[in-house]
Amino acid sequence: MSWKTLDDMDFAGKTALVRVDINVPVDASGAVTDTTRIDAVLPTIRDITAAGGKVVLLAHFGRPKGKVVPEMSLRQVLPALSAALGRPVGFAEDCIGAPAKQAVAATPDGEVLLLENTRFHAGEEKNDPQLAAALAALGDIYVNDAFSAAHRAHASTEGLAHLLPSCAGRLMAAELSALDAALGNPQRPVVAVVGGAKVSTKLDLLGNLVSKVDYLVIGGGMANTFLAAQGQPVGKSLCEHDLADTAREILLKAGDVGCTIVLPVDLVVARDFKAHAAHEVVATCPDDAMILDAGPESVAAICAIFEEAETLIWNGPLGAFELEPFDAATNAAARRAAELTRDGKLVSVAGGGDTVAALNKAGAAAAFTYISTAGGAFLEWMEGKELPGVAALEA
Ligand code: 3PG
Repeated sequence: MSWKTLDDMDFAGKTALVRVDINVPVDASGAVTDTTRIDAVLPTIRDITAAGGKVVLLAHFGRPKGKVVPEMSLRQVLPALSAALGRPVGFAEDCIGAPAKQAVAATPDGEVLLLENTRFHAGEEKNDPQLAAALAALGDIYVNDAFSAAHRAHASTEGLAHLLPSCAGRLMAAELSALDAALGNPQRPVVAVVGGAKVSTKLDLLGNLVSKVDYLVIGGGMANTFLAAQGQPVGKSLCEHDLADTAREILLKAGDVGCTIVLPVDLVVARDFKAHAAHEVVATCPDDAMILDAGPESVAAICAIFEEAETLIWNGPLGAFELEPFDAATNAAARRAAELTRDGKLVSVAGGGDTVAALNKAGAAAAFTYISTAGGAFLEWMEGKELPGVAALEA
């Protein structure tokens, strides 16, 4: 992988079009409830403005599907962005055309401007060359700092990179080097933890990982599908019985390539899917019960693998982590991974969907080597797919 970074560009007196992902959660009043993605792009904005460049931020918000949807205006993110940056940020009502041109012209060097949602134009998701050209006309340099949107081949994430001198922002560069250390060129042994509800959503990911990692720990509802495929009873558990053949193929492939698949050896089962439901630890799931977490022996086995591993990559919880006490296996394993990381014995990288929430709940996220800001892009990267936004920077 090779791409330019901010250090390769001269921003003095230049207008940098910086693609960020500030697709952040907001409450009913439009107030931002989690600023992680905003905080993550501040280094890029600060470095460019400090170098005398003008920063014009390009971003999407939600999925307005090519129409102006007022509830998906980026204007609502402006207060949180200004507060995080500690300075005023200008705003243009459109990302192209007269409003954008005038706002860019009115923004002095060293200042920051946010353009309205790129997805208000149908050309964004179609990667329309005309939209990309209209965006390119606004600036001199393209900076992509939106790893979490890099799985989309859109005008502002892919097309634009071919039209201007381009480079990766600080966050993009950090994401790519952390991910390369975890799966591209890792210290071995490598252990992957993959959890979550359904095997069907992670088939490509599992297929890719077995050929790349030494241990693949499967947890959550997905583990039930594998247990059932091995002929073990799963009672009323969440289970995709129709994927039994697929699960067996993955087990066979793992055996062929020397990847050890780790499934729960004891199970926490309950009769109700609710917090604090009466529960017990069993070796075999009773017919009238459902598996809601991995048991203590399973956790001990997972932690023993963490001790031996040099690199950990984590996506998805080991149990029904949103319901106490069925977060116990996720919490215990995450905390052990955090300790080993703190002690300098493990490189730990996590990302995607529920994962960050689960690791935060466990109080473990801060100690991980790297927590990706990406959801879907992290999964596609774990699947081994080329991310168009990254590929365009390499070109
Ligand atoms: C995300 O929230 O994962 C990114 O902003 C991408 O959003 P999308 O799935 O709507 O493309």
